[in-house]
Amino acid sequence: MNPEKWVFNLLLSFLFLRICTSIDTLTTNRSIKDGNVLVSSGETFALGFFSPGNSSRRYVGIWYNKIPEHTVVWVANRNSGINGTSRVLSLNGDGNLVIYDNTRRCTVWQTNASAVSFSARLLDSGNLVLFQGDRGSGGGVWQSFDHPTNNVLPNMKIGLDRRTGLERFLTSWKSRDDPSTGEYSFRLELNELPQLILFKGSTRIWRLPTLLGTAKAEDMAMGRQMGRVLFGPWRPMFAYGRCGAYGFCDPNNGQDFECACLPGYEPKSTEEWNLRDASGGCIKKRRELSMCGIGEGFVEVADTKIPDSSKAHVWMSLSMHECKDECLRNCSCLAYTRAEGREGAICVTWYENLMDVKRYVRRFLDGGLDLYVRVDAVELAQRRKSRRLKQKKVAVVVASVVLTSLLFIILVGWLVMKKRRRGIDIQDSDEENVELPIFDMVTLAGATNNFSDTNKIGKGGFGSVYKVILFGYMAPEYAIDGLFSTKSDIFSFGVIVLEIMSGKRNRKFHHADHDLNLLGHAWKLWMDGKAFELIDPVMEGSFPMSKVLRCIQIGLLCVQKCPEDRPTMSSVVIMLVSDIVVLPQPNQPGFYIERTSKETHERSQAQYSPSINEVTMTHLEAR
Ligand SMILES: *[C@@H]1O[C@H](CO)[C@@H](O)[C@H](O)[C@H]1NC(C)=O
Ligand SMILES: *[C@@H]1O[C@H](CO)[C@@H](O)[C@H](O)[C@H]1NC(C)=O
Ligand SMILES: *[C@@H]1O[C@H](CO)[C@@H](O)[C@H](O)[C@H]1NC(C)=O
Ligand SMILES: *[C@@H]1O[C@H](CO)[C@@H](O)[C@H](O)[C@H]1NC(C)=O
Ligand SMILES: *[C@@H]1O[C@H](CO)[C@@H](O)[C@H](O)[C@H]1NC(C)=O
Repeated sequence: MNPEKWVFNLLLSFLFLRICTSIDTLTTNRSIKDGNVLVSSGETFALGFFSPGNSSRRYVGIWYNKIPEHTVVWVANRNSGINGTSRVLSLNGDGNLVIYDNTRRCTVWQTNASAVSFSARLLDSGNLVLFQGDRGSGGGVWQSFDHPTNNVLPNMKIGLDRRTGLERFLTSWKSRDDPSTGEYSFRLELNELPQLILFKGSTRIWRLPTLLGTAKAEDMAMGRQMGRVLFGPWRPMFAYGRCGAYGFCDPNNGQDFECACLPGYEPKSTEEWNLRDASGGCIKKRRELSMCGIGEGFVEVADTKIPDSSKAHVWMSLSMHECKDECLRNCSCLAYTRAEGREGAICVTWYENLMDVKRYVRRFLDGGLDLYVRVDAVELAQRRKSRRLKQKKVAVVVASVVLTSLLFIILVGWLVMKKRRRGIDIQDSDEENVELPIFDMVTLAGATNNFSDTNKIGKGGFGSVYKVILFGYMAPEYAIDGLFSTKSDIFSFGVIVLEIMSGKRNRKFHHADHDLNLLGHAWKLWMDGKAFELIDPVMEGSFPMSKVLRCIQIGLLCVQKCPEDRPTMSSVVIMLVSDIVVLPQPNQPGFYIERTSKETHERSQAQYSPSINEVTMTHLEAR
């Protein structure tokens, strides 16, 4: 091909393409068929036929022209998808936009314009407008922004148009494949203080307070995120009235339950509350105590999503003080807040069911206001006292932190000095008096026979555990896995109980017949029904045998291998105090074969292995 012709063709096709794609207007003489699109002048939005998801039905919609992922923002015939292949969108004789099916006889969908129009133009804002003049001139008589589907675009308004009586609200799609009207809707509820409500059917499931008359999408910084509000990952924490009436939801309250009651209120049902069901809400603490002119006052709850305002009263241009007085004056007023709105300061007062109050983590949107909740004189006095106490507490905490750090530094310094003096040879030190000694590598290697497998008693998260340095009181899960809990303390407690009963130390325990430690010995005697043999001879006769046996049983229960099998300290106390409580039978304790390092060292050289059966075997071999 001759280059000039080629360039000419390219230019021609480019021009043609430009002309083709830049069509943004329909006139009575120009319709679009399935496959053609209108593109707004700035090429931001496109309008045409599409099929959502896996559906085969055809719909007319508006989507982002430049986003590769098909992002539909508006659907015309959402409730009447079309079968078949050839469909047309055109302006009919009376100037309404019409979608015809393939026969061009049936009308699938049409607009309801208030006056005759001669053109339909897709604006760069994503708004499709019917104009009275041709080529998109003259006044608009209908616009898609008045009939939103599931998306808000900048400059689109939600709420009631008082002039036309038209209510604009969003409704979700049924599914990704089906754009027909779903069960979720997002509306601006008009009352003295309007608020945006997300409904599921007729149930409120989320609420956004606003201090504006008509909320504009850009004001709410939501824009395209609106789709995510409707369909996005839903957390129950967001839910409307999560903590019931007079409840207060604070996800960062440092507790494991985000619900609390507003000042002066308490849970209606403590049982439900303990089961983390706060739907019942809260009630006033001292219901008999009136809050009508007898020393009541207000407690501030900072940075809140203010309560549901469907029945709230709005007072314009009141100062903070006047707002408070306004609430105080009416005995049914329960709370107030004051904010600087667009049209000046507004004061809001509530009279019933303080519903859906939350803590906003940071001030955003129009929420995050300080709410003042009316409380009776008693509550007010208590709060004042506890605030003073808190200030004192802070001082005490600061002082003790400083003191503790100082002690810690001194301790560390002392340890370092001591270690230096002691040098590397720890074995020289008086090991008898050190319950938790520090071991160096040489000692460990010696004690474990150079980490031989025969000395291995288990493998844990930090590596293998050798017989050795488990000084009698350590719970197995702590020694092996490094897991520490209150149940590890119970283990240590159990060891001490058995030591007291027997008058012998677990660590230095010897028995001629077997290789078990004190725990193993106690367990063996218990299984043989001879637990009484464990008792320290000094103690014999001074206590009833049943009591002593009970103590041994409790001791054994405390040293169970699995932390879950060990009782809690509170149940141990009950077991010790009351003889009526039936005790469970203990199972095999944890660490019932371990010995002290020195013995293990000797024994391991003699090829002892942990199992009792094998002990006999190796004796034979040794001969
Ligand atoms: C539309 O077509 C009619 C005749 O069919 C013509 O009179 C009219 O001028 C055309 N309008 C435009 C905008 O082209
Ligand atoms: C469409 O169908 C495919 C396979 O049947 C499925 O994996 C995919 O999730 C579907 N997409 C939608 C949007 O439903
Ligand atoms: C479209 O097709 C489905 C089945 O494929 C049928 O149930 C439905 O009635 C058809 N709708 C129209 C308007 O023809
Ligand atoms: C158009 O308006 C008429 C009367 O005002 C009404 O009956 C009809 O349902 C409307 N159609 C649509 C699609 O809104
Ligand atoms: C207090 O407020 C309630 C609720 O708005 C109202 O019905 C009542 O008349 C008010 N009482 C007084 C004394 O203003």
